Amino acid sequence: MVNIFLKDDNIKVKVSNGKTLREIAIKTGASMEFGCRVGDCLTCVAHVTSGMDLLNDKNYKEDRALEILNDPSTDLRLMCQCSVEGDEGEIEISYKL
Ligand code: FES
Repeated sequence: MVNIFLKDDNIKVKVSNGKTLREIAIKTGASMEFGCRVGDCLTCVAHVTSGMDLLNDKNYKEDRALEILNDPSTDLRLMCQCSVEGDEGEIEISYKL
């Protein structure tokens, strides 16, 4: 199991490999916001402050969308495009930018 810490809501939850961040947000009642849910609107951008290696790789669409932000942060991800890929560890996410 992977521990997820949603910092802005002080939510800690254990999840299994393959869970999407959207599923996790809905299940926990986190205040993470979603819009299009397909990687176009940037509503769901968040900082993954630890555990980036436990998420799926960015796809082309996510890379292109994040380029639009022109933000030098290397920890930004679109939550609607992320899923857990790992069996053990901790992921920490902050989504109040
Ligand atoms: S909800 Fe629109 S980019 Fe994620």
